[in-house]
Amino acid sequence: MKKTIAILPGDGIGPEVTAQAVKVLDAIGERFQHQFFYNTALVGAIAIDKTGDPLPQATLDLCLSADAVLFGAIGDPKYDNDPGAKVRPEQGLLRLRKSLGLFANIRPVTTYSTLLHLSPLRPERIKGADFVIFRELTGGIYFGEKSRDAVKAQDLCVYHDYEIERIAKLAFEAAQKRRKKLLLVDKANVLETSRLWREVVQRMAPSYPDIEVGYMFVDNAAMQIIQWPTQFDVILTENMFGDILSDEASVLAGSMGLLPSASIGERSALFEPIHGSYPQAAGQDVANPMAAILSAGMMLDHFGLKEEATTIYRTTKHVLEKGVGTQELDLQYAYSCSQIGDLIAHLISDAADLNLDQQQTTERTSTII
Ligand code: IPM
Ligand code: MG
Repeated sequence: MKKTIAILPGDGIGPEVTAQAVKVLDAIGERFQHQFFYNTALVGAIAIDKTGDPLPQATLDLCLSADAVLFGAIGDPKYDNDPGAKVRPEQGLLRLRKSLGLFANIRPVTTYSTLLHLSPLRPERIKGADFVIFRELTGGIYFGEKSRDAVKAQDLCVYHDYEIERIAKLAFEAAQKRRKKLLLVDKANVLETSRLWREVVQRMAPSYPDIEVGYMFVDNAAMQIIQWPTQFDVILTENMFGDILSDEASVLAGSMGLLPSASIGERSALFEPIHGSYPQAAGQDVANPMAAILSAGMMLDHFGLKEEATTIYRTTKHVLEKGVGTQELDLQYAYSCSQIGDLIAHLISDAADLNLDQQQTTERTSTII
């Protein structure tokens, strides 16, 4: 298979983690005889610095013509405390989502048995938690009309039924391939838009008789995610609720550096780690590239390359289980960002049957890295 991939490293640790994902993709390409062609483009704060625009036209054109986009991270603290800033890095990502029609953001939340202790939550509560959040990504309060004067500001939350239907369809289908439970998270006791979400999902439910459909208010869901996370399978929700709940859910995995995401929709799909640009760590080769690597895995899945995707998931899991990880995971062996990329790529291209042994991990010998 031949695929053209737009690489948008972005800001902070984005370039470092994306480089590891590319190494791993190359290893997959070599082992499974695929050709991946990469084109790199600017986005975010670095694009503002170089062109004045967080999403230059050349970047957008590249993304529109690519088979998929691999995204690093965006954001720079110099914009965070300046509410008056007219141009912000985040606008680049939001415009990209809108221009590519990326209406469904898919964020799987998995716990790893060897990392349970890293979560601030009690291990017995989170053990076995495995769910996926389907977050609507191009509507709601993020994209509604905004206005402000000196003393008043407003952001409008708008949803059309078709916007709800198309993501709900994907969520129902995902539930059919999983544990057959779909939960709509909303605030239907207060918000009109939430009542429309419920109506649409209720209308669709009879077409999926094998799926158990549930409804939960978002405030309750925020509590239940940390109190009893194993109850969830597929969570479907609107844009801002999904933004907040997916950060909350990342606590279960023990590190934000482990959670990938896929954004799919009308044109080329986009894959990105859910973590931000982590500017304090930029350039130090300490960031965890696993979320970026797993995002590349989701991209392969999207291309229909199931075995290739599974190879990435399994190898990453295996490395963690062997006690190898970046420093924030505080495992037995602390590797740098690039060493993790090298290790996973090596295990894949060597078709190493996951025979990482203790001596090799301790010495980081050349057979491994
Ligand atoms: C995310 C981020 C973005 C969002 C920001 C960077 C605009 O928090 O992808 O979750 O709010 O969607
Ligand atoms: Mg977010």
